[in-house]
Amino acid sequence: MAKAIPRATALENVMFSLTYTIPGLLRGAFATQPKGMDIVAKFDANRRANEFVSKLRVRYGGRSIWTRGPVGPVLLVLSQGDIKRVLSASDHVFSLASPEKVRGLSLFQPASLVLSAGEQRDDRKAFNEFVLAAGDRVHPLADRFLTVIADEMDVLLAGVGVGTLTRSAFDHAFARAARRILFGEAARNDVRLGNLLRALRMEANWLGLRPWRNRRNQALLDRMNAKIRSYAATADSGSLVGMFAGAPKTAKTDPAGQVSHWMMAFDVFGVGIMQALAMLAIHPAKAAEAAEEIRSAEQAHGAGTVAAVTAMPYLKASLLEGLRLWAPVPTLMRVTTEPIDWHGDKLPAGTNVMIPASLHHRNPQLAYADRFAPEAWISGEAGDDWWINPFSRGRGQCPGASLALLVGPAVLAALLRDRRVELLEPEIRAGRPLPLTINASKLRFGVHLAGPAAPAEPVPEARQAEAGASTEPSQG
Ligand code: HEM
Repeated sequence: MAKAIPRATALENVMFSLTYTIPGLLRGAFATQPKGMDIVAKFDANRRANEFVSKLRVRYGGRSIWTRGPVGPVLLVLSQGDIKRVLSASDHVFSLASPEKVRGLSLFQPASLVLSAGEQRDDRKAFNEFVLAAGDRVHPLADRFLTVIADEMDVLLAGVGVGTLTRSAFDHAFARAARRILFGEAARNDVRLGNLLRALRMEANWLGLRPWRNRRNQALLDRMNAKIRSYAATADSGSLVGMFAGAPKTAKTDPAGQVSHWMMAFDVFGVGIMQALAMLAIHPAKAAEAAEEIRSAEQAHGAGTVAAVTAMPYLKASLLEGLRLWAPVPTLMRVTTEPIDWHGDKLPAGTNVMIPASLHHRNPQLAYADRFAPEAWISGEAGDDWWINPFSRGRGQCPGASLALLVGPAVLAALLRDRRVELLEPEIRAGRPLPLTINASKLRFGVHLAGPAAPAEPVPEARQAEAGASTEPSQG
């Protein structure tokens, strides 16, 4: 018997917009707006949204529901089974190129994989996967990239000394590293390139509602693409653009057209690293575990080597936790390209499908929802759980994930080697449930030389009850 997809009531639509959609627009869909971020962090908007979505899950028995978004009906995915179904489906049927992504991303990555369809998407996907070494492969330029990271983190730390590490100082250092990885040595100080992208991303936040700026936007895009093409033509052999010559490609690929997405992704990536550092800073026992891992991996394999970094599962898990707790890609959007049977009802072609990943990552059903639990990744529990998708999954999975999971721990190791970091701002305490919204642009750390002993770590009350007074990581 056909079962109609439930519809949210008018009040529920308003509540969802107020707690999730509008705060998402305020903080910036394509580039963070610091002032908007401040407001949503102050009200911990995601906590309110999570409480509301938890009620919807109960009210509709875990079924996905029709809601009304700003541009029409949206299927809000509320169950683990439906997340799995959408993310495991064909990327041609559940396309990544949802209308608001087309509206925003086409300003600065009109030829990117995300916005491509049909054969062109398959073609560009193969190219992206080759150059980024997607899947479980270690990137062929991994040695080179780790040298770049070591250099730039050395420069950063020499500037910080025993003092304060700000987001802005980190961002500059990480952007230099990113430009060297993407384009090679000549791009190291090309700050203008990032500024062009930033201006276009800020404009993308307006979702195409300022058509009078089209000519200016096109001029910015042309300037950015000219720079990208000129670096690609130089093809520094130690960079990603240096791999273009050997990559599978056809007339449809547009190799240089793929790169502005990668540049944006490196920004997202930097946020994730800083969030993981913040968590290690407020959990001294876990920081001590990370420090011990760095010491023993580097003693066995040499500092900054690929072998050492791949022997740092705890740092990798910490990075993944930073991405789970405050997902830098908070919403996974899809649009259906053909009618689909959906639990006995039909989704028409053109249905917008929304997975609010940043809320599902904090589903109260997860034992470790609101605490920092690298151990949940070590045990495989978090990685196997379809509620949790920091890199998405299936055909739309991030092809940069394995590169990120190598470079990220290397950055954390460089920052934590022989040092202890203290979180100065914003105020986040380990002993209580972590906020669901933070203003990561405000992260600021005190950097100290590592002392002999880590101070005791506060334990959440719920865990004290479960596990006695132990301060050691549990299995989530
Ligand atoms: C911590 C860092 C990163 C995170 C959390 C992340 C997350 C994601 C997510 C969630 C998606 C899928 C979006 C969706 O399903 O709608 C995605 C796609 C993508 N990411 Fe990443 N990413 C990261 C780093 C990178 C890096 C470093 C690169 C390249 C240098 C990259 C390249 C891409 C590309 C090309 C896609 C499009 C995939 C497609 O259309 O099939 N990402 N990323």
